[in-house]
Amino acid sequence: MRGIGKKMGLKVMLIGGGGREHALAWKIASSPLVEKLVCVPGNPGMAQVAECVSMGASDLEALKSWAVSNRIDLTVIGPEAPLVAGLADHFRASGLAVFGPSQAAAALEGSKAFMKDLLKRYHIPTAGYQVFTDAAAALDHVRGQGAPIVVKASGLAAGKGAMVCHTLEEAEQAVHRAMVQREFGAAGNEVVVEEFLTGEEVSFMAFADGERLLPMASAQDHKAVGEGDTGPNTGGMGAYSPAPILTPRLHDRIMVEIMQPVIDAMAAEGRPYRGVLYAGLMIDGDVLKVLEFNARFGDPETQPLLMRMRSDIVPFLMASAVGSLAGMTIDWDPRPAVCVVMAAGGYPGSYAMDHPITGLESAMSLPDVQIFHAGTRRVGQNLVTAGGRVLGVTGLGDTVTQARKVTYAAVERIHWQDAYFRGDIAYRALSREAP
Ligand code: AMP
Ligand code: GLY
Repeated sequence: MRGIGKKMGLKVMLIGGGGREHALAWKIASSPLVEKLVCVPGNPGMAQVAECVSMGASDLEALKSWAVSNRIDLTVIGPEAPLVAGLADHFRASGLAVFGPSQAAAALEGSKAFMKDLLKRYHIPTAGYQVFTDAAAALDHVRGQGAPIVVKASGLAAGKGAMVCHTLEEAEQAVHRAMVQREFGAAGNEVVVEEFLTGEEVSFMAFADGERLLPMASAQDHKAVGEGDTGPNTGGMGAYSPAPILTPRLHDRIMVEIMQPVIDAMAAEGRPYRGVLYAGLMIDGDVLKVLEFNARFGDPETQPLLMRMRSDIVPFLMASAVGSLAGMTIDWDPRPAVCVVMAAGGYPGSYAMDHPITGLESAMSLPDVQIFHAGTRRVGQNLVTAGGRVLGVTGLGDTVTQARKVTYAAVERIHWQDAYFRGDIAYRALSREAP
C-alpha cells in the first residue's frame, strides 16, 4: 500500500462530527487526490464539502462493513472515543488503511495512569504523581500533600476530568466527585493525583508513522471557560497558531526530550504509534513537562492549524496510516490564525439547545474567515444549536492583532440566544507582538 499516497481518485471516510472534524473535512475535500469524502456522522458544516452518513461512531462492525462495501481507500478517525474503543484495529484487521492509533497505542490518551507510568519508566519529564483505585487512600494522600494539587480521572472524560484544586477542600471534593459520586463513570475507576505545575501551556502535534515524527506548527488552546483563564475547564474555548512561546530551541528540545522518546517507548512496548500524537506541555522557563497526551488532533487547535497548512494534508494522513513519513515536509502559511469558539450559554455546565443561529453567511463573507461547525443541526431550512461548543470561527491575518480583528468581526455577526464566547483569545500572543 506504500504507493497509495500518490493514487488519485481516493475515497476517504472521516469519522466524527465536531469542529475538529469539520476543519479536517474542509482540508481533505480540497485535496486533488480525493474524489469522494464521506463523513460519519458529520454535521451541517461538513455537509457543505462532503456526503454525511448517519451511523453511530461506536458501532465498530457496521463502520467497518460500510468501509469495505464502499471501497474506502482511507479512513480518518477524528475523536478519541472510537480510537480508545479499538476502531483502528478493527479496520486494520480487514486490510483497510486507517489514520489513527491502535487501541494499545491510544492508551496514551485513554489511560492517564498508563501514560504517567510509561513516562516515568522512560524518564520523560512530567509532573510527580500517584495512582489510586481507592477513595480513602486518595484522600489520605491529598491531605498529606495539601493544595494546590491536581486530581484527574484516568479515563476519557471529554476534557473535563482534570480538576485543578487550589484548596484542600476542593481536592477532597474532586476525589469525591470522581471516586464516590462517579461523575465520570468508569473513567474514575483509577484516579491520578498530580503535583501542580506552573507555567504556560502549549499544544504540540506531530504526524507519526510508528517510528518517525513529522511535527506540525505550534498552537495554544484556552481550556478554561472564563476570560483570563478563569472558571472550570472545557473542551477548549479558542486556539491560535503559531504559539510564539515555542521558540525554535524549545521546539527542538520537545522533539528530542519528549516526542521522539515517547514514539520510541511505544514501539519498544509493542504499541507502535501511528496517527497524530498530541502533547499538552507546560513550559516554565527552561523546564518542560508533559501534562497530557492525546491520540488525535486537538479541538479547537486543528481549526487554526489547518487554516495555516498550505500543503495537501492527504499524503501525510496516508503516510501515517500505512507508509513512511521519511523525507516529508509541511508548508505553512506564515500568517497567524485565531479560532474563537462560540458556545451555548451555560457550557460546560448545563445549557439549552435548538436556538436558531443567524448571521453565518454575512460572517463567512469576510475575507480569510472560515466557520467550522461543532454543535449545530438543521431543522428544515434553519440551523440551530445542538451542543455546548457550537461554532469555531477562525480567521487569518498578517499579525495576531489582524487575525483577531477579522475573527471577532465575524463572531460579532453571528447570533443566537445566550451565545457565549471569550473575548480574549490569543491574549498571550498579543502581549508578545511588537506594537
Ligand atoms: P489534562 O486533561 O491532563 O491536560 O488537564 C487539563 C488541563 O488542566 C490542562 O490543560 C491544564 O490547564 C490543567 N492541568 C492539568 N494538569 C496540571 C498540573 N499538573 N498542573 C497544573 N495544571 C494542570
Ligand atoms: N484542545 C484540547 C484537546 O483537544 O484535548
